[in-house]
Amino acid sequence: MQYTNEELKQKIDELKSKLDVTVVAHFYQRDEVFDIGDITGDSLELAIRTRDDDSKFVLFCGVAFMGQSVKVLSPHKRVVMPKLACCAMAKMIDGIYFDESIAFMEKHGISKENILPITYINSNADVKAKVGELGGLVCTSSNAKHIIADALKVGKKILFVPDRCLGQNIANQMGLKSMVIGEEGNPNDVDIICYDGFCSVHQLFTLDDIAFYRKKFPGILIAVHPECDPSICDASDFVGSTSQLIQYIQALPAEQKVAVGTEFNMVNRLRPTNTYVLSSTKPECPTMNETTLEDVYVTLKAIDDGAPINEIFVDEKTQKWAKIALERMLAL
Ligand code: 13P
Ligand code: SF4
Repeated sequence: MQYTNEELKQKIDELKSKLDVTVVAHFYQRDEVFDIGDITGDSLELAIRTRDDDSKFVLFCGVAFMGQSVKVLSPHKRVVMPKLACCAMAKMIDGIYFDESIAFMEKHGISKENILPITYINSNADVKAKVGELGGLVCTSSNAKHIIADALKVGKKILFVPDRCLGQNIANQMGLKSMVIGEEGNPNDVDIICYDGFCSVHQLFTLDDIAFYRKKFPGILIAVHPECDPSICDASDFVGSTSQLIQYIQALPAEQKVAVGTEFNMVNRLRPTNTYVLSSTKPECPTMNETTLEDVYVTLKAIDDGAPINEIFVDEKTQKWAKIALERMLAL
């Protein structure tokens, strides 16, 4: 039987009040899914607030690495996801590619002891575990600059995975030298060696889009996420994580126009007027958009029926080292 969104919302509310469950939703979720979240936010906020929540079940509306991070930080919790959607960037690296990146640095005479790996939270638990085992840690787009600044104090070469853009953008902001594996350069001559992963959604924004808006609305501000290409970040007025973008845009005077370079769902609900999507192609994250209200209902119903579906499990060794990598970040 097909339910309307209103009917689904009502059924979801009934189940939520009956079950020991917290519904978590990332800012990029569809509006109707975002609206039923008990905890909403960017990936850093979700990691912290969900860890501190004491419900038995966490129903996570986002992409797989996010639900996995909750399970890694709180193995006693039962984490279910309405859709096991995998972030395209997180898929670009696994344990084998990580090992190959370390081998690339070793080939240039940099020993494992002299490498400090940092993984963006947009990576699967096996990569986080490899990073943890090598003494490294996790970062998110909100705290990457802080984490890298702290890591530099140790005097090691930083291997940053998987997002080349975030690594390069932070290096540029801090006046550091960076290179991307597979592109020209010697890792000995730079501070940060970036893996060559990227987010296809954030690659949609172009310099032509920025030129178009600056010409159409003189005085407009351009605000983008650091997963955008460095050329886009350099040409923008503000670069920040999803929460930082929200804070920046909501503090603008109502008449100030702004074009925003990040996922469509979030930009669309940011501000009633004078806010534009910085792309002629709708920048929707396909995997974030997979989760529907019906999926949430079906997943809650399965908990109620005593047969949870799409539950996240992480093996013990991966859990141990991935937790260490995540906790090193949270400790900072
Ligand atoms: P935030 O860390 O800003 O939530 O970003 C997560 C993400 O997937 C952006 O594409
Ligand atoms: Fe992954 Fe990009 Fe989607 Fe974020 S927007 S979840 S980085 S694919």
